[in-house]
Amino acid sequence: MIDVIVQEKQNRLSRTHSDEDKQLIGAGGYMSPNEHLLEDVLLAVTLKKPVLLKGPTGAGKTKLAETISAFFQQPVQSINCSVDLDAEALLGFKTIVLNEGLNSIEFVEGPVIEAMKKGHILYIDEINMAKSETLPILHSVLDYRRMLTNPFTGEVIKAHPDFSVIAAINEGYIGTTPMNEALKNRFVSYSIPYISGELLEKLWLNLFPSSPKELHTLMLNLAEDLMNQVKQGLLSEEAASIRSMQYAMELAEYIDPMRAITYAIAEKLEDDQEKKLVLELASSWIK
Ligand SMILES: Nc1ncnc2c1ncn2[C@@H]1O[C@H](COP(=O)(O)OP(=O)(O)O)[C@@H](O)[C@H]1O
Ligand SMILES: [Mg+2]
Repeated sequence: MIDVIVQEKQNRLSRTHSDEDKQLIGAGGYMSPNEHLLEDVLLAVTLKKPVLLKGPTGAGKTKLAETISAFFQQPVQSINCSVDLDAEALLGFKTIVLNEGLNSIEFVEGPVIEAMKKGHILYIDEINMAKSETLPILHSVLDYRRMLTNPFTGEVIKAHPDFSVIAAINEGYIGTTPMNEALKNRFVSYSIPYISGELLEKLWLNLFPSSPKELHTLMLNLAEDLMNQVKQGLLSEEAASIRSMQYAMELAEYIDPMRAITYAIAEKLEDDQEKKLVLELASSWIK
């Protein structure tokens, strides 16, 4: 049951956006792994709490953020922290513009300031990868103050009441850098697992309604096997990535499923034993 306050926000936000901003509204389609997750995240966003989505790659974290955007009809400004992100990339930069024959300096607003002023969602991907000196700029944006003093202009920016922050962290694969404590402390945090079983079956049906039933069954059985091997520590977590399985499904609409699984899943694993295991499991389901 969607809470009334969530519905209030949804009704309020069905206001019109500019054509440019409308392009930034997500498509939706996230399937909640349990009956509460999606609603609980919607509630946190409504209560203006920054949301942290933690989970392995290809688990639907970006899809979930897009689904929240679609639900509230709220555009998303995205930043990815795995690129060399500096204050300019977050906040914006000064530039010289020619105006009626005169040069003047203008500030081009970056994603953080634009999202704060327009009441958009700020999606911060791979937040744990940011350089330690960059993100403290955001501390006052992320806590109860919801404001920022732009170091380039001195402007004090108070966030629009609808401004929301959703961050994601690829947790679970080797090499994950832990997130800074002061930063993490400002979020409410959710584990985003790979979906399986009936839910995955539903996802395949939604995405590939016309592909053969045997292919759906193969990819469901393989998904379950891969997940079990991951749980036993015999495969690295990304072997069971929903994204990779979705790619395999797409390829298998045109080519032999074994080749599809090789390219979309097995070849992406570092370890030769793991590659072999994936292919063995797959072939055991193919008659
Ligand atoms: N629970 C889910 N519901 C809907 N789609 C999902 C789900 N999990 C994974 N997917 C699909 O898997 C792909 C990868 O999802 P994405 O959101 O990019 O993953 P992440 O951001 O966690 O790496 C997308 O195409 C998405 O449609
Ligand atoms: Mg993502």
